[in-house]
Amino acid sequence: MEWMLSMTYAWLKAGHIIFVIFWMAGLFMLPRYFVYHQESMPGSPEEARWVDREAKLLKIILWPSLVVVWVLGLLLAHTIGAFSQGWLHAKLFFVLVLTAYHIWMAGYAGKLARGERRLTGKQLRLLNEVPGLAAAVIVILVVLKPF
Ligand code: HEM
Repeated sequence: MEWMLSMTYAWLKAGHIIFVIFWMAGLFMLPRYFVYHQESMPGSPEEARWVDREAKLLKIILWPSLVVVWVLGLLLAHTIGAFSQGWLHAKLFFVLVLTAYHIWMAGYAGKLARGERRLTGKQLRLLNEVPGLAAAVIVILVVLKPF
């Protein structure tokens, strides 16, 4: 029985990490798409292709990964009784930052699809640092559990 439980936990964790990778890959790709999108001529067929690519990336990779990472992460936390531990609170704060960034990006994709280009390529490239920094802090928190 104990063996079964630890195997289930290991599989949950493997699933969690796999979908974290998918989510992060999507979060790194989307702002790059925005930069190329904004370099295309407004109303051109190339612009239409970027709108389509962005919508597909959000629908096929980003939204499903966000949901699976949250569900499996919360299941893991429940299984090891981590809800009272400081490292998890800190991790959740940074995961919320990533989630807010994701939602903001999805909103920006909608604006771009309507022809609104509010940020410069440089600003988009700078924003691209957010997921990398947040992921580094999250991994340190979950592996080292400093508090
Ligand atoms: C969405 C909310 C999330 C919750 C509730 C959550 C919770 C957890 C829990 C409880 C564990 C197991 C820790 C252990 O077995 O010691 C875990 C493992 C892990 N999580 Fe998350 N997580 C979330 C999101 C994320 C994100 C966004 C990342 C990375 C960007 C991430 C990266 C990892 C990694 C790398 C591990 C494996 C750590 C190890 O085995 O040492 N998690 N997570």
